[in-house]
Amino acid sequence: MRAYYFDNLPGDQRLPHDYVPSRPVPPALLESIGVKYWEIPVEGYEARIDAVAKERDYKNRDMINVSKEGMGEVYEDKIKGFFQEHMHEDEEIRYILSGSGFFDVRESPSDAWIRIAVVPGDLIVIPAGIYHRFTLDEANNIKALRLFKDEPKWIPHNRGPTTDVNPYRVDYLKSIGVGA
Ligand SMILES: [Fe+2]
Repeated sequence: MRAYYFDNLPGDQRLPHDYVPSRPVPPALLESIGVKYWEIPVEGYEARIDAVAKERDYKNRDMINVSKEGMGEVYEDKIKGFFQEHMHEDEEIRYILSGSGFFDVRESPSDAWIRIAVVPGDLIVIPAGIYHRFTLDEANNIKALRLFKDEPKWIPHNRGPTTDVNPYRVDYLKSIGVGA
């Protein structure tokens, strides 16, 4: 995993969009906005993922394969949807098995985009209420485990006046000490 500020320049979302020179984001900053992260080698990952899942009460999981081959006809629509800025009312937990991609999360209160480049072995938890989006990179494929507590609650709520007052958004901001 590598995190850095997104350069906000126009152009293909799949490009790195790294400032020159890069503006890295340290782990402590990610932690301060509620993003959690573990590195778990893919070889023999099951036991360690099971342990984290047990500790954090993630009872269920499934696998997602984001690639043209894996998704077929819905691929282009899905890709566009993932890159719409949104929030969820639950954590978004992903363990990367193969491929790579970018999770962009909004820093609050600056509203800057932080780009998190994920690779196999990365386990990332995006908190409920944080604005974020996802894109593949130029390799165009990622395979990931999705972990969740009971029922998956992955409805994306696109950012707007309604999400700004969504209780999960408000709670999220309180949890990071913004806008209490
Ligand atoms: Fe999401």
